[in-house]
Amino acid sequence: MVAAQAGRRLVTASSHSGPPDDLDRDLDVAPGEWDPQDVYYLMTGLVVPRPIAWVSTVSADGVLNLAPHSYFNVMSNDPPHVVIGSSGRKDTLANIEATGELVVNITTEHVLEQMNASAVDAPPEVDEFERVGVTPVASHTVAPARVAEAMAALECRLVQVVPAGNGHIVIAEVTRIHIDRRVWRDGRVAPDLLRPVLRFAGTQYGTVGELFKLPRPTWNEDVGDRDPDDRSWIPRR
Ligand SMILES: Cc1cc2nc3c(=O)[nH]c(=O)nc-3n(C[C@H](O)[C@H](O)[C@H](O)COP(=O)(O)O)c2cc1C
Repeated sequence: MVAAQAGRRLVTASSHSGPPDDLDRDLDVAPGEWDPQDVYYLMTGLVVPRPIAWVSTVSADGVLNLAPHSYFNVMSNDPPHVVIGSSGRKDTLANIEATGELVVNITTEHVLEQMNASAVDAPPEVDEFERVGVTPVASHTVAPARVAEAMAALECRLVQVVPAGNGHIVIAEVTRIHIDRRVWRDGRVAPDLLRPVLRFAGTQYGTVGELFKLPRPTWNEDVGDRDPDDRSWIPRR
């Protein structure tokens, strides 16, 4: 039960119908106990930060489309695969289903405002490259253009669309990787040059803060012969 307390909600007993302002005990909740929108905010506030795929697609009629998707990550490496989640059905999903192709432009601080502008609920016949003022560049392996102003882009082919409740999980194989020379240092992408934008819940974003390295232990070299109570092998920050 939720008790009103000076206009705020406080968890006091066994069940509750939405997020309280304060907790007098730890929260344990089943998704079905709350309104789906509250669960969405809870989950997208917890699984953070998320990278933002700035997805370019083309419709069956040839209209270019752009939209950010922060339900996004890389999920396999040989060959590389990415996943994107569509909440409900959007132009991006319809275009991917129609053509089997997409480009994931990586969202960095260089293109933050244009990325956000492209989240507008434009009708499907609107060319969102043109509307937000970014430049299409022909891809090598797929029909949708990449964004010239983006520091990196992944050309992808659809593998599968998996239904997930009211959403859809798009699994795609990466067929070509484009990286701007300005974010490259010492044989790899440098995070301080890439400057990815990190998404938290709602309209809250972040940038990369402190970077540090933490070596990964191996059983044979670091752990195997030690006494089970000896934890001196655990790398410290
Ligand atoms: C940073 C950001 C991340 C977003 N992530 C997603 C997402 O992961 N899935 C989704 O369905 N919509 C997401 N949206 C909302 C879509 O971008 C928005 O609904 C857009 O209008 C869809 O465009 P489309 O109809 O051209 O595909 C996000 C919006 C922003 C600003």
